[in-house]
Amino acid sequence: MQRIFLSAPYMGGSELKNIEQAFSDNYIAPLGAFVDGFESKIKEYCGAKYALALNAGTAAIHLALRTLGIKDGDTVLASTFTFAASVNPIMYERCKMVLIDCDESWNLSPELLKKAICECEQKPKALILTHLYGAAAKLDEICEICAENNIALIEDAAEALGASYKGKALGTFGVFGAYSFNGNKIITCGGGGMLVSDDEKLLSKARYYSTQAREPLLHYEHLDYGYNYRLSNILGAIGCGQMEVLSERVKRKREIFALYKELLGGLDGVDHFMPELENTCANRWLTTLAFKEKNAHLKVIEALSKENIESRPLWKPMHAQPVFKGAKAVINGTSDDLFSRGICLPSGADMSDEVVEKVARIVKSAL
Ligand SMILES: Cc1ncc(COP(=O)(O)O)c(C=O)c1O
Repeated sequence: MQRIFLSAPYMGGSELKNIEQAFSDNYIAPLGAFVDGFESKIKEYCGAKYALALNAGTAAIHLALRTLGIKDGDTVLASTFTFAASVNPIMYERCKMVLIDCDESWNLSPELLKKAICECEQKPKALILTHLYGAAAKLDEICEICAENNIALIEDAAEALGASYKGKALGTFGVFGAYSFNGNKIITCGGGGMLVSDDEKLLSKARYYSTQAREPLLHYEHLDYGYNYRLSNILGAIGCGQMEVLSERVKRKREIFALYKELLGGLDGVDHFMPELENTCANRWLTTLAFKEKNAHLKVIEALSKENIESRPLWKPMHAQPVFKGAKAVINGTSDDLFSRGICLPSGADMSDEVVEKVARIVKSAL
């Protein structure tokens, strides 16, 4: 029985040809035409002015903090309902982390954001806002609160490439936006990330840090310390190929979500699917839903696993992670509740309707 994955890589066709081109050019380095091409394609697709290709989405978030001059002891706010990669960079810079819960949108609550700002002993410097599972957070409210309080907005759009808010790409609302091309993302290079910004100065500074903070001199001269965060031209070649099919992938992921909703939405045990705010378009990277009963997701995951089908609980909130127990948390119980009864269903864009129907049948009988 062939395993059905949560979100398997799905190549479009040009990727191998591009890799062969990189080989024949002998550009097998963390720079080259495919890295430049990948940056251009992301800029064009997302409408960002500047883009920097990196070897991970985590590196993009880290560089955003470093470039903004956020340092040891500064306070950084972040969504608690997310993956650890969103907030690990706060630890790299030894900042104080303040974790904020979500509301009915499953994304950061603007009300709790205001509360967190009031309760912070020190003025927060930045907010790392996750657009969870490719669905937009309440950007109008959040951008306004950040602007009023002079807080730099860093959008963690790792899961949200191809999604939009009022027609504008997620990742282009903040000072910086970060995308991921990890193996399970909507498009992948096998590993990689992209930092985008409309601020030329900030993005060139990030570029400088990403290449070991090297001064533009003949010899190697360093006035500051940096990182080796650049993307390989081989991975850029895959990224360029994947950009050709991004719109198709978004379309198919949305169809898969709609089909699951049609098949499972009316079941007694199902509470609700992850919402999509009005005037937004989620990429539906993963189809996620909450069951009515606590722990119902565990028996569904087990039943699917018996059929060699991968599914997962929702992200365990960061405030509940032992490693971040020292962080201040402004919470309302929503993410804890969703974690106790929510599931990520297999959502690969290469899944046929028949496969989705098979998964739905198993979910139904497990319930
Ligand atoms: C919400 C979120 N933030 C950040 C990341 C980090 O991206 P990467 O794995 O490319 O470092 C991921 C994915 O892994 C993610 O899901």
